[in-house]
Amino acid sequence: MFILGGTSAKNIAINLANRLLQPLLQTTYKRFPDDEFYVRLHENITNEDVLIVQTAYPDPKIVELLLLQDAVHEAGAKTITVILPYFGYSRQDKKFEDGEAISARAIAQHISMHADCVITVDPHKDHVLKFFTVPAYGCSAVSTIAQYLKEKNIDFVLAPDKGAKERAREAATLINCEYDYLEKTRIDGTTVKITPKELDARGRHVAIIDDIISTGSTMAHSIKELKKQGAASVSVACTHGLFVSGAKEKLLAAKCDEIISTDTIETEYSKVSAADCIAETLLKTTKRIKN
Ligand code: R5P
Repeated sequence: MFILGGTSAKNIAINLANRLLQPLLQTTYKRFPDDEFYVRLHENITNEDVLIVQTAYPDPKIVELLLLQDAVHEAGAKTITVILPYFGYSRQDKKFEDGEAISARAIAQHISMHADCVITVDPHKDHVLKFFTVPAYGCSAVSTIAQYLKEKNIDFVLAPDKGAKERAREAATLINCEYDYLEKTRIDGTTVKITPKELDARGRHVAIIDDIISTGSTMAHSIKELKKQGAASVSVACTHGLFVSGAKEKLLAAKCDEIISTDTIETEYSKVSAADCIAETLLKTTKRIKN
């Protein structure tokens, strides 16, 4: 087996290679003067099982992934497993208005073209896995995040909306503390409204946990609510840290005590790795890899 790390998931690829004791495939990547991507594989992978690790975000990384898959397919790999640490476009998982694309399905179908199996971390909704036309599995980085939060003495976990409640419950169970959730209404892509609610957060060290931090609006409003109610500290934790549209500034302005994310998208806040949950899922779903 070989592990091919794309440019958007180097950390996870290295961690997986170490965890699975499998080699990283030697490759050359470059960009042409017009910015088009180029890849060349330097090893014979005929009849080999290959894991391609590449986050599908932002857009150029999706093109890179399709070219990596094509190169591996052309080179005669026996099987291609695509590890998609973050599945970009998965939030547009249906037509919200007439005339829209079902973006998650469009991306999934293209990725499925040269893949035997897909594994992605904390998919926004589980049903997006069905958009792939090959077996696709989700895995959860919540226990890795919870372990980090436990070491930071977090004693209350909050979900910023009902959709994240199950994630908060799971983290709280692992930390052995209480949890609650807020009611969020999304006004548009950058504006959210959090309905005030009495929380048992006074004097507590709280972590707000979500799958994605994008513009940071959800977290910033939740932090303000918790600080108003007397929380001793408020950290925010997510699997996929996009941090766009001034998210960092919003979180700091809301007096966030710590920002934690995994490395599904590599940023300065990638304090834990999603590699362990991916490795566990690989071991469960394929018989090809020996631990
Ligand atoms: C939405 O359902 C997601 O779980 C996140 O709450 C959302 O993507 C966060 O977005 P933002 O950081 O822009 O508020």
